[in-house]
Amino acid sequence: MNKSVLMIIGGGIAAYKSLELIRLLKARSIGVRAIMTKAAEEFVTPLSVASLSGEKVHSALFNLTDEVEMGHIELSRSADLVVVVPATADLMAKMAAGLANDLASTTLLATDKKVLIAPAMNVRMWLHAATQRNIATLENDGIQFVGPNEGDMACGEFGAGRMAEPVEILAAIEKLLSPTIQLLKGKKILVTAGPTREPIDPVRYISNHSSGKQGYAIAEAARNMGADVTLVSGPVSLAPPTGMTFLNVQTADEMLNACEGVYDVVICAAAVADWKVAEVSSNKIKKNKISGVPSLSFIENPDILATLSKAGKSRAKLVVGFAAETEDVVLNGKAKLARKGCDLIIANDVSETSGVFGGDKNIVHLVSAKGVEDWPRLSKIEVAQRLMAYVAGQLK
Ligand code: PMT
Repeated sequence: MNKSVLMIIGGGIAAYKSLELIRLLKARSIGVRAIMTKAAEEFVTPLSVASLSGEKVHSALFNLTDEVEMGHIELSRSADLVVVVPATADLMAKMAAGLANDLASTTLLATDKKVLIAPAMNVRMWLHAATQRNIATLENDGIQFVGPNEGDMACGEFGAGRMAEPVEILAAIEKLLSPTIQLLKGKKILVTAGPTREPIDPVRYISNHSSGKQGYAIAEAARNMGADVTLVSGPVSLAPPTGMTFLNVQTADEMLNACEGVYDVVICAAAVADWKVAEVSSNKIKKNKISGVPSLSFIENPDILATLSKAGKSRAKLVVGFAAETEDVVLNGKAKLARKGCDLIIANDVSETSGVFGGDKNIVHLVSAKGVEDWPRLSKIEVAQRLMAYVAGQLK
């Protein structure tokens, strides 16, 4: 994404989460410039913020060098969005009153960009009549909110006022930065992602190297374009994305069950195990109880993509599968298109040298009845965005 945000870091214990948010934004190629309030510097150091963002951190209102290089008005002008993390009670009060007595509040008053705030404060401060009045004023002024959530607080209390997690703030930022034309608004889209895990016994299983990154990026791109997304995921270490229905599964059988429903579009990016162990041992297979090595026999797993591609009243208008190949990528992709009965195959090379499993980049070939379209090496996020734009075009 070729966008940038101006992040205003307020002085609260939740300020440490701004560091993780900067890391997440940079991983998505979203540029970050930061302003820190004096109080924020008590919680995180400008050096940490500068190192993660790769940009100079601004804090003083009257700084001759800054004004020459990048005036405070220019700071917000050059950003696509202003984000306040954490938005303390004090910062919100200043915003509501239109006060401008430091760089953060002056920039917030001077900006003509959308402003997203992630409030964080003690539950009684949040519920106080003054804060509630400020919230109403800010909402009226068009300020966007993400959180706060309910939960345990650093002060030992429980309730509303806990800052939204960095992944939630990231989702809110991406939504605001994404094109306002919601090309997939109202469309129901099912995405499968990650590997499946087929048990051998209660301890061991058979699986593969899928990290879920490509499938999750597709689900997020569809959500950002306004779709009503259901993400069915095998076991991965990614945080469940917000703003969609998320179903966690382990095996291919569970994945097939979770895919039940009526959808406009189905995208099968999961690396589903083709086979499962015929008889799963209910106890751990003990080395000293068998002679030699255990012999396992396998049976076929259900083919989710082929099942969802079958003609029928509830078939999605568009069914997209992936082909993970280590040789003859396009040729095998074409064979899979015919065998599975889907409308489109995204063929990708998953040989060890490609770095696709678990990596951030992918080279894909779109194989359909119309022919083959080769895309250049892109980030998985770019593949996802282009794919969802293609899908929107097909649905027209
Ligand atoms: O997760 P990442 O680390 O980001 O890596 C991304 C990826 C390589 C996993 C992804 O881009 C990809 O190629 N996913 C499909 C992996 C796969 O299982 O491909 P396949 O060629 O074995 O299967 C073909 C298609 O049938 C796939 O859409 C698959 O989801 C589907 N399938 C396969 C077997 C089965 N029993 N049921 C299925 O639905």
